Amino acid sequence: MGKKSAKKAKKAKKAKKAKKNKPLTVQLCQKKNCCKRGGDRLWEAFETRAKQGTSTQKRQLKVQAVGCLGGCKKGPNLRVLPDNVKHYHVQPDEIDKLLARHTTG
Ligand code: FES
Repeated sequence: MGKKSAKKAKKAKKAKKAKKNKPLTVQLCQKKNCCKRGGDRLWEAFETRAKQGTSTQKRQLKVQAVGCLGGCKKGPNLRVLPDNVKHYHVQPDEIDKLLARHTTG
């Protein structure tokens, strides 16, 4: 491994570690289309989960209300930060699985 690639690998490792320690933020669309498709129930489920604070292990979980994320007909929709990944048609019983995807690896 060359000097440049070793530096690059070290930088990537540092960035990954920094990302791992950031709080997990779930941005839930609270606009009409998502709310009428179950966004309200999803909001309540995430609020409960954030208060419990168990599923994200060492990472803090924050829940934010946001405007339209696009893909309204596939709602309820949300975005998970810092990964910046959108999820469509999320149901309250899928929260554990979804959070596990962002907290492991
Ligand atoms: S209304 Fe929720 S994504 Fe557009």
